[in-house]
Amino acid sequence: MNVIRTVAELRAALLGPRRAGRTIGLVPTMGAFHEGHLSLMRQARRECDVVVVSLFVNPAQFNDPADLERYPRDAARDEALAAEIGVDHLFAPGVDEVYPSGFTTAVSVAGITETLEGAHRGRAHFDGVTTVVSKLFNMVGPEVAYFGQKDVQQALVIRRMVRDLDMPVRIEVCPTVREADGLALSSRNAHLSPDDRARATALHRALNAVQEEVSAGERDPAALRARALAELEAAAIEPDYVELVSTDTLAPVSRLDGEALAVLAAHVGATRLIDNQLIQPSLNHNREVATPLRAPTIA
Ligand code: PAJ
Repeated sequence: MNVIRTVAELRAALLGPRRAGRTIGLVPTMGAFHEGHLSLMRQARRECDVVVVSLFVNPAQFNDPADLERYPRDAARDEALAAEIGVDHLFAPGVDEVYPSGFTTAVSVAGITETLEGAHRGRAHFDGVTTVVSKLFNMVGPEVAYFGQKDVQQALVIRRMVRDLDMPVRIEVCPTVREADGLALSSRNAHLSPDDRARATALHRALNAVQEEVSAGERDPAALRARALAELEAAAIEPDYVELVSTDTLAPVSRLDGEALAVLAAHVGATRLIDNQLIQPSLNHNREVATPLRAPTIA
């Protein structure tokens, strides 16, 4: 595996494969790899000739400098894990390579960035994400890029950006990887105390409860929210939000007539966690669907 630090080296490394018609897949990350990240890399490895993983802790998407400061970093471990999966190129540029002095351009998606995580974290967060991901797409020129359903709003924002700006890349959304007890993997889980770690399983239970109610015939979002809230309350967790929203626009749905997303965010102790699940009226048992957010076909 090559570890690449500059855009010039990256372009040189990808020129040959691109001319030879090889499929290039990109997995954008901020490092501190866990099984969620590794699952995206494995999917890219299965589907693409050349796999590029980017590792860049993007200052532009952090609203709190302290949060950026304490973001976990372990380059040696990340390199070893990516190499083990068979990643071809680990692109790990410095901040000056991505944002050289004089940098003043931003890519900004309106609408779906303004609700849920956007409302909570402020406009700069998703602007930071879309700007850096556009840059990564321009640097790598991937045919496919892989994102996790764990951050479903981010994945949908990227899809919106790609459609709106005619970017020639297909966005694959990969299933959320969970611990055995249902907690979605996140680098933030390490901050949970043992007690909070146990309570945090209520997030997944709340989402499952919504699907169970829908499978039993409930279609009213207010009743479904109440069921999820009861599950959180039983674990003494106060959510930032629990919503049933459209899989396309993230607008609240008024009735569960088709697929919808159940999304939630909550503080468990001092740690803020997010999770979501695709809710399907036609489903009569509990399971997570492999790739629920299908990519539009790009000619
Ligand atoms: P990061 O938090 O490092 O996440 C990288 C990718 O891993 C994202 O697509 C995220 O959704 C996915 N991921 C995280 N936890 C997951 C889990 N439990 N199961 C499946 N996938 C999971 O998201 C970012 O970085 C940044 O915003 C980035 C897109 C790289 C732009 O800077």
